[in-house]
Amino acid sequence: MHEFHAAQACADRAHGYHRHLNPGELRLAALAAGYASAPDDDDFRYLELGFGPGVSVGFHAAATAGTYWGTDSNPGHAERARSLAAASGAQTHLSDDAFWEFAMRRDLPDFDYIALHGVWSWITDESREVIVDLIRRKLKPGGIAYVSYNTAPGWAPYVPVRQLMALFAARADTASAASGALRFGAEVISAGADDGHAVPDLARHLDAVEAAGHGERIDAYLSGDWTLSTFSETAAHLAGARLTFAGSTRLLDSVEAFGFTPRSRQLLDRIDDPLLRETTKDVLTNARVRSDVYIKGGRPMSDEALSAQWASQLFVLTTHASEMPAHVLLPPGVISLRDRVPGHVIAALAEDDYAPKTIAQLCAHPRLARASADDVIAAMLLLAGTGHARAAQHPSAAIVDRCHTLNRHVRARARMGDPVEYLASPVTGGAIDVSRVVLLFLDAVEQGRDTVQSLARYLRRYLNAGDAAARPDAAPHGPRVEGGDVVESMAEHFLTATLPMLRALRAV
Ligand SMILES: C[S@@+](CC[C@H](N)C(=O)[O-])C[C@H]1O[C@@H](n2cnc3c(N)ncnc32)[C@H](O)[C@@H]1O
Repeated sequence: MHEFHAAQACADRAHGYHRHLNPGELRLAALAAGYASAPDDDDFRYLELGFGPGVSVGFHAAATAGTYWGTDSNPGHAERARSLAAASGAQTHLSDDAFWEFAMRRDLPDFDYIALHGVWSWITDESREVIVDLIRRKLKPGGIAYVSYNTAPGWAPYVPVRQLMALFAARADTASAASGALRFGAEVISAGADDGHAVPDLARHLDAVEAAGHGERIDAYLSGDWTLSTFSETAAHLAGARLTFAGSTRLLDSVEAFGFTPRSRQLLDRIDDPLLRETTKDVLTNARVRSDVYIKGGRPMSDEALSAQWASQLFVLTTHASEMPAHVLLPPGVISLRDRVPGHVIAALAEDDYAPKTIAQLCAHPRLARASADDVIAAMLLLAGTGHARAAQHPSAAIVDRCHTLNRHVRARARMGDPVEYLASPVTGGAIDVSRVVLLFLDAVEQGRDTVQSLARYLRRYLNAGDAAARPDAAPHGPRVEGGDVVESMAEHFLTATLPMLRALRAV
């Protein structure tokens, strides 16, 4: 996540998709924490509060079976969200009510999920109270609440300089007050450093704020309500809605061997109290953002129930095996993905054209005969936590149809230079990142082009037309280009790795 995005006020961030909001990912996070949660059925109701331009809610409404509700008081956001959701044919209930107005509505159903991403830190105390009360009344028992927020340990050092810049901007009273404030902040930090009072990291923070955008967004950063909370404060607040903390959607957190050095693990092992333990983790990692799953009346599952639920958990690779890195770098050090269990799990998941597989199927695979279920689960959490795999579902025909309708709309927007750089996957129940170049290549494939040369010719039409947006930038499912003939390399990468993966995820 971009640094400024984590801290930015509720500025208009174009086209952001947040996979942690995917109901399948939320259930997986609850499972990884050992908690029973909302049943995995086709008739769930999901509420997203403060959905911004609505990319997440639009893709989830297309790619899963539930009914989606949401509100965002910015009418422009609400309009864009409704239009994206409508593009797939999904039935949604998206409004531009303020939270307090929404909470008073009499037509609200009870929800299985209530989620808010990037909202909690940027609203008033009154709005937080309205949300807690809404969750208390309208989240079903066993339902999942998802809340992400900025935490004090990582952000606290930046509070004084933000306050200084906000004061400067309020007094400058001109159109360019915000960027003037940013310059002023940078000058103060640099002069202070010359005087021998350097605050580590502050200059880098201001560079990140500046790099993230100008004008409105910096304005919002300086003027918005910004409240940092600690984990224990937030958990205490949400207890008012009868919510119990289950775990984080950052799946690596659920396997401490991945998240902490042995010394930190020994320290954590001494702490039984969950509030103290999570808060300690945040101080250990200098955490800036938490993205947590809470459960209404949550209770840990019995060992038998947990094993049964893990056995039926479906996963799919989202990185082609040929693209899988050999190693990932985690806090305790470098972990090899070619080692026995992760290597065999990757190979097993790639079989059958990457068809999704349950943990039980993976455990029964001959290559994994000597691995325990816990080893296989840990390997899956490693792959999912590092972005190479996701929770999966068996989609209905209606879901596949909605995703393909939405993806045609996305491709049409890419042709018109207004890209939403995601494709809906009926298999993951959410969006897959793609670059605009990939969207254009998909168009070419649709028209029957299936060779490197014909794809390259198609893309050059855009490049020759001077379309800067089609530049060969790398995105997660975009081509990586180094030297040689750039466009040909991109086309080749697309045909050998990207397209097979998008087909496996049934995004095309
Ligand atoms: C920082 S943005 C986050 C948007 C989106 N969830 C994301 O993470 O990209 C916060 C959103 O909450 C909305 N919002 C803030 N206060 C609100 C309120 N009282 N009622 C309804 N929406 C509100 C804003 O309009 C904005 O779109």
